[in-house]
Amino acid sequence: MNHLPTVDYDDIQGLVRFGYRRLTQASFLLLRVRDAQAARNWIAEAPVSSAATQEPPPTTALQLAFTSAGLAALGVPGDIVDGFSHEFIVGMASDESRSRRLGDIGPNDPAGWQWGGAPDRLPHLLLMLYAVPGELGPWAERVLAGCGEGFDQIGVLSTSDMDGVEPFGFADGISEPALDWQRERRVRDEERTAYDNRSCLGEYLLGYPNEYGAYTDRPLIDPARDSGTMLPKAEDAPALADLGRNGSYLVLRQLQQDVAGFWRFVDTQVGGDPMLRQRLAETLVGRTMAGEPLMGDTGERIPGEDDPRNSFTYADDREGLRCPIGAHIRRSNPRNADLPPGPPGFVSWARRTLGFDAEALAADRVSSTRFHRLLRRGREYGRGVSLEQALAGMPVADGDATGLHFICLGANIARQFEFVQSAWLAGLRFDGLADESDPLIGHHLPRADGTPTDGFSVPLESGPDRRVCGLPQFVTVQGGAYFFLPGLRALRYLSKGSPP
Ligand code: HEM
Repeated sequence: MNHLPTVDYDDIQGLVRFGYRRLTQASFLLLRVRDAQAARNWIAEAPVSSAATQEPPPTTALQLAFTSAGLAALGVPGDIVDGFSHEFIVGMASDESRSRRLGDIGPNDPAGWQWGGAPDRLPHLLLMLYAVPGELGPWAERVLAGCGEGFDQIGVLSTSDMDGVEPFGFADGISEPALDWQRERRVRDEERTAYDNRSCLGEYLLGYPNEYGAYTDRPLIDPARDSGTMLPKAEDAPALADLGRNGSYLVLRQLQQDVAGFWRFVDTQVGGDPMLRQRLAETLVGRTMAGEPLMGDTGERIPGEDDPRNSFTYADDREGLRCPIGAHIRRSNPRNADLPPGPPGFVSWARRTLGFDAEALAADRVSSTRFHRLLRRGREYGRGVSLEQALAGMPVADGDATGLHFICLGANIARQFEFVQSAWLAGLRFDGLADESDPLIGHHLPRADGTPTDGFSVPLESGPDRRVCGLPQFVTVQGGAYFFLPGLRALRYLSKGSPP
């Protein structure tokens, strides 16, 4: 029997639950607070959409998220902001060490970003508008009425509906974790030994137990500072009001894609053969362009997963013969369970969990997938480039750049986004691979000692891996920031201004 409180959908921003794929038009505004009181007044009235189901489904939506600088600019006391996680407080581009780990060096250096790199180009508020075709303009006008008094606009991130395909031409948005909205999963499910697509709510929402059975740190406030008793009580500390509950961290990165560079590179590698060109491109991604996994049908049944295109793990492909170990989808979600696979029985379990098994230890480098899942909510931007245009090397006109406004949600930026980005994608050592990073998004710059990192290993049945060399950089970071996407009651609290 489940005695945990039910989830209050009215208090959660709808992006977490719905993703708003049906609202195919979207525009993201980057704003800075000019007048804190006017900004708070506007936020208090903003028609922010919740995660409650509506019939008929709405044709528009509005979501709001804040950087830590934004919370401070709204007048949120420093000790309350300090209750958020360190990486949110300091931000994505705060120091060289973080930038290096995230791969934000060379052409990705925050110094060259269009926004988010320098303090005066850091947005305070991310205002996300969604609508069905034809309604975005009027919706934006309605929402933004009165907004100008409180905010200065420092950027608009427009998006394009590419019909479920990202600019390189691959089907996207296929694999997503399934959230345990009913709170049925056993908390601290330590014995879970098989890959499972279901995730505890606390992996994405603050104020709920996560996959460790723990509550992620967030600002818990003396109720005396919540005079209108707007905030929910903390589940793990009922004497305190929970500013984090039903909120999530939102990571936004503007990733520009060199579509022509991508297709010309794979074309050159295969001497212009169209079939081999497509096959090599698919090998880098780990799925066919239509979205089928290169793993094919493994006959597995993954709990919490209904899409046959996601019903697989890499358990039967330790060598990477069907899907290369370094392929983008294998790096970004190795689909391993907690324990490396092994025979049943206590001795085997002890060997694998207590670290006496060298092979198991190597496997363990990628074995905790369930603690590193991301809820992806990104949108494409720019004008699509056809394969013919790409191969012809037609120059991209200024302002015609294309790419992905990568967005992911999670309750722990360090353990989720930063870990996946730095250890699995930008990292040069991954599951036995050395000196290569993610083929799609890696910067491929040489190591400090000059060792090249621009290779991609394709394991072959017989003989050593085939090594694709000289990968150029296909994706360049143009901007980015960490935001807090508050629950709706927390949003009202922020709009009232909190007593010191
Ligand atoms: C422009 C940059 C990127 C492109 C073109 C791209 C493309 C893709 C494609 C085509 C897929 C397969 C479709 C799917 O499973 O939904 C995918 C999956 C995925 N990507 Fe990316 N991606 C990019 C950046 C990133 C970044 C920055 C991250 C994380 C930091 C990331 C994490 C993931 C994850 C977690 C999956 C699902 C893997 C799975 O569960 O099997 N991607 N991406």
